[in-house]
Amino acid sequence: MQEKLQQLKTEALTALNSIKDKLQLEELETKLLGRKGGQLTEMLKGLKDLSEDAKRQVGQLANEVKKSVEEAIANKKKEFVQQEMSGLLEKEYIDITQPALPAKNLGHLHPNTIIQNDLEDLFTSMGFAVIDGPELESDYYNFTALNIPENHPARDMQDTFYIKGHSDWLMRTQTSPVQVRAMQKHGVPLRVIVPGKCYRNEATDPRHEHTFYQLEGLVVDKDINFSHLKGVLEAVAKHLYGPKTQIRLLPKFYPFVEPGVRGEVTCFLCEGKGCRVCKQTGWLEIFGAGMVHPSVLKEGGVDPNVYQGFAFGFGLTRLVMLKYGIEDIRLLESGNMKFLEQF
Ligand code: DAH
Repeated sequence: MQEKLQQLKTEALTALNSIKDKLQLEELETKLLGRKGGQLTEMLKGLKDLSEDAKRQVGQLANEVKKSVEEAIANKKKEFVQQEMSGLLEKEYIDITQPALPAKNLGHLHPNTIIQNDLEDLFTSMGFAVIDGPELESDYYNFTALNIPENHPARDMQDTFYIKGHSDWLMRTQTSPVQVRAMQKHGVPLRVIVPGKCYRNEATDPRHEHTFYQLEGLVVDKDINFSHLKGVLEAVAKHLYGPKTQIRLLPKFYPFVEPGVRGEVTCFLCEGKGCRVCKQTGWLEIFGAGMVHPSVLKEGGVDPNVYQGFAFGFGLTRLVMLKYGIEDIRLLESGNMKFLEQF
């Protein structure tokens, strides 16, 4: 038996030397150490039939043989794993200095977003914060808090989508409701803009759409007057259409400001001479504005005897249409790739 064990050991180690891959190694392992029928396993099982003395002698040798065979197999396994790893490293080597391949079908910003980002940069450079408000708004913030009581005709001009079962909820018709929200939430002094989506129940045509964008602005502080309003809006107009651009402010009624104005800029296409875009007037209307009405300040929790403010609202969608010469507003929300790919 001892001889047989020695012989098995020699054979096993020789066989191991000539093994070339993991599969062969596994086969050899089973052949020698497999639980059922493994050559060495069977020999060890045979030990129990020996006398106590023989068992002691042979047993020690048998354990040594088993140990060295197991060790040799484990070493061989390690060798294969290392080989495999270095192969992988070679195959998966990444040259991080290699320039990237040009990306295919890369998306880009929607024209609305381009103009919105541009104005956000301008206003933040003037110390304004950019804030948000809900598109699903309450009747109170969209109208009542803005000095538009129930049954006021101003409501009829801004019909919108109401939520079934919640008669107080509507899709906001303007970004102005965020004026009162901002005063309530942040207090004064305040210098904010609110770009965002608005909704109206329109019979849509090239100039009317149910979904569009506005950009609201609100400044509240002590000693704020009309010239501040004009100064800021002039800066915006020159930023948008060049340093020669002029603005004019014409009286217009908005319930939440007093006085209220509609703001026009000299037409950037004809520079005021009159053309198709400005309908021969030389002027383009691009915003509404005014000094914040005392009752709106009060709704915001601000004392109108101490604070004043001005507010303005740009038709962001209108700015986009003017800038890119888009003649049908419906294209902007259409998701039409042929249209969008032009920007
Ligand atoms: N919310 C108005 C609209 O949708 C625009 C507007 C006018 C906003 C005057 C203002 C403002 O903040 O002062 O027609």
